[in-house]
Formats: sequence, C-alpha cells, structure tokens
Amino acid sequence: MLVLGVETSCDETGVALVRDGCFLAESLASQTDIHAVFGGVVPEIASREHQRMLPILFADLLAKAAVTAQDIDAVAVARGPGLLGSLLVGMSFAKGLCLATGAALIGVDHLHAHLLAPGLEDELRFPALGLLVSGGHTHIYRMDSPTEFRLLGRTLDDAAGEAFDKVAKLLNLPYPGGRYLDDLSQGVEPDKTLFPLAYVHNDNLDFSFSGLKTAVAEYLSKRPHLPYAAMPEADALRNGGALALAAHPQELALVAASFNRAVAETLRIKVERALGREEGLRSLVVAGGVAANSHVRAAMAQVAGMHGLAACIPRPALCTDNAAMIAHAGALALLAGYRHDLGLESVPRGRAVPRDWHRITPNAEGLRLDRTRAEN
Ligand code: KG4
Ligand code: ZN
Repeated sequence: MLVLGVETSCDETGVALVRDGCFLAESLASQTDIHAVFGGVVPEIASREHQRMLPILFADLLAKAAVTAQDIDAVAVARGPGLLGSLLVGMSFAKGLCLATGAALIGVDHLHAHLLAPGLEDELRFPALGLLVSGGHTHIYRMDSPTEFRLLGRTLDDAAGEAFDKVAKLLNLPYPGGRYLDDLSQGVEPDKTLFPLAYVHNDNLDFSFSGLKTAVAEYLSKRPHLPYAAMPEADALRNGGALALAAHPQELALVAASFNRAVAETLRIKVERALGREEGLRSLVVAGGVAANSHVRAAMAQVAGMHGLAACIPRPALCTDNAAMIAHAGALALLAGYRHDLGLESVPRGRAVPRDWHRITPNAEGLRLDRTRAEN
C-alpha cells in the first residue's frame, strides 16, 4: 500500500510517501526563515506559502520516488490541530488528489502522528506512555494501539516549546529559538537554584510553564547585558554560532543550561508519575519538536530505563513537523480499517480532533475500491 502524507498544519510544508510501513521519500520546505523576524508564525503568510509550495514539493516527491500520482493508494492528511488557514490548504490538496485519482482519504491527528513517528524507525510496543512536547502542545497520553489514545495530562498554559521560544525571544534570538538554547547549554553544569521547577508540587499529570518563563524574564530584566544586542541571523547561529556571537558566553550558557534543566526535570517528574500510575506499559514514546532537545532526550531515556521500559525517541528530523509521520499514522489507521470521506473537516488549534472516521471491512480489493469506482 502506497500512502502519501500531507502536512501543512503550521510552518512546514511537507509531502512524503510510505510503502507498506517503510519510509520511501519526503519533500519538505520549512518556512522558519520567513517567520523568524516576526517572532512567531504569521498565519496568513503560512497559508500562502503552503499554497505556493505544495505542487512543487509534490512533483519533486514523485520524481524522487519514481512513482506517478496514479500509483498512490491513499492520501493521509494532517487535519489538525493547527492553523486553520494552513490546514485548509493541505486538506484541499489531499481531497483534490483523491477526487482525481480515486485514492482513499484518511485524516490524521497531527499530535497522534508525532507520537507514532518512532514506529518508522523501530517497532512500537503497546500499551505505551506517550509524551508529546511540541511548540503548541505538551500532552501525556496512554496509547493502547496506533488508533486508541487517552489523554492523561496537558499543559494549562504555555507548551514546553513555547516556553523555549519565549525565552529565546527574550534573548533576542530568532524564532523558533529552542534549538539555540539547547546548543548554548552544551557541556555546562546547570545551576539548580536559578529557576524553579514549574507546577510539580501537586498530584496531577498536567503542566504549567508560564511561571518558569516569568522567572527567566525577571532574571534577565536585572541583567540587560545578556540578550544579543542585535538579532543574529539563523544561519550564523548554527554549528556553535550561538555561543560565539554572545557578548557574555559563560553567563549566557549558564542561563541556558539551567533553563533546559528546569524544563527537562519538570517533564521527567510528570512522566515518572504517569509511569507509576499506568499499568501494563511496554514502552515510553517521546515526540514533537522538543523531543529533539538533548536534555529532554537524556532525562526520558533515564526514566524509561528506571522503569525497565524501552524509550522510543525518534531522530531529531522525525521529531519536528514532517509529512512522513502523517503518512505513517494514516497507513496505520487504514490498516485498522478506518477511512474518511470527502466531507472530512480540518480542526483548528484548541479543539479536540473527533474520531469521526468510518470503519470499513477490507476485502480483496482493499483500499482500491474507490479507485475502481473512479476509473469506471
Ligand atoms: O513539533 P514541532 O516541529 O512543531 C509543532 O507542532 O509545534 O515543534 C516545534 C518546537 C518549537 O517550539 C522549537 O523551538 C522546539 O520545537 N524545538 C526545540 C529543539 N528543537 C526544536 N526545543 C528545544 N530544544 C531543541 N533542540
Ligand atoms: Zn507538530
């Protein structure tokens, strides 16, 4: 089964092909440099960029994989949560393709897709505890199967990635600045007294990162020499550039290390609590952009090991937004017998993605039923 994934929920435009559970090819265009100067994603610009890039990326993908549009059995599309205007671009593209070729359509929850992404590299063992840490979400789920997720905890305010990006902004780093804070902290012993662990002295599995962000803001307001005087170019910051360009590198690195430690430790405490409560778990899955963070990865590998579980954390390129994870999650839902019709709706941020798919009984014709109809 050849499945196309379409991702346009935020500022990455992506299309990817997965065949029988294996990654085949991907074409991805990041808009981060376009939005960097605005300090966040500008929705209107994001939608227009998706509109412009999708056909270009799709042609590139078909050429890379040496397949034609007619070879695609199903189209998996990220239906939300995300920026509505951006989602609609991907959704229209996916539906148009299904109408033209007769391929099956399946809508994918972007958040679930993040957590299923490690399955492209490794076998995912269910039931799993899933920690999703991205720019918009910090969720803990119990995952009983690729299509059964139960939300156990969530952020009450800022997501972990948002906290990273806001602290980076305070330092005058371009958006999204999480990775630069990670870079700055490398090899530096954090000062545990600098920033508090946010919202851990309670009995729940929810998160709140706004207090930590405020603590960093207050700390920096007394040290106006620490932020970069002029916002550095993203290119100049890569490969150690962040430290090299800092006016007070040692002091800045200590702030970065202490902040990274506070986030990673907060996540570790809540995940450990969840692991202690949920029964029968076989693995810990960590995904989303912040799963690319070195401190978060180390903390999660450690906590999984302590509970005798396998830690599934995808390589950094599979942690951030991509279309391979959408294709993979879509393929798993199709294999479980689910699919959508052309009435499929996009879901904006803040609204839960409904389980409104149809159950079909796969037969010998399997997913090609609709294709046959289109050809006739
Ligand atoms: O999952 P993602 O690509 O997009 C969303 O769906 O939100 O996550 C993006 C987030 C941003 O907040 C970005 O700063 C953060 O992931 N991020 C990191 C790192 N790499 C990406 N945060 C901390 N350390 C990193 N290495
Ligand atoms: Zn994402």
